[in-house]
Amino acid sequence: MKKLVLVAGLVALPAFAAPFDLKGDGTKGETSYKTLCVACHGEKGDGNGPAGAALNPKPTNFTDAVNAVRLTDEWVYKMVKEGGAANGKSPLMVAWAGALNDQQIRDVGAYVLKFKPAAAKAEPAKKAAPAKKK
Ligand code: HEC
Repeated sequence: MKKLVLVAGLVALPAFAAPFDLKGDGTKGETSYKTLCVACHGEKGDGNGPAGAALNPKPTNFTDAVNAVRLTDEWVYKMVKEGGAANGKSPLMVAWAGALNDQQIRDVGAYVLKFKPAAAKAEPAKKAAPAKKK
């Protein structure tokens, strides 16, 4: 049901279609991340920043394979732009639309997505190492 409402909302906002053509530059986003996000999400993106430790829920661990499933570029963009409260997540994740412009949000999003484990980025390419026989 929640999903239906969400879909209806997107359909009703055709002007919002453009931002989903997401092209972020993670290299440029690194500065924003290290300035604005690192205190909670941590240097390594594992959610263990000094200010994150005391939070409940904890800041998302971007390196976790389970979390990686929902960390699409659209979702990251929405969360960063609108914050947690607007997206059914913790209000401790504030909206950054006032601090970052649209391109900067995409750039920092691209940086965040770099923390995803390699297996989640390239699922089909994953192969077990061949067993060694002697
Ligand atoms: C005050 C601490 C704090 C700061 C600073 C912060 N976040 Fe968060 N963030 C959180 C918390 C807490 C959550 C988890 C919300 C939840 O699980 O309900 C979160 C969730 C997220 C998510 C959603 C991931 C998911 O679990 O679906 C993204 C993306 C994100 N943050 C990106 C950023 C970026 C990018 C910045 C910097 C521009 C940033 N955050 C700064 C606390 C913070």
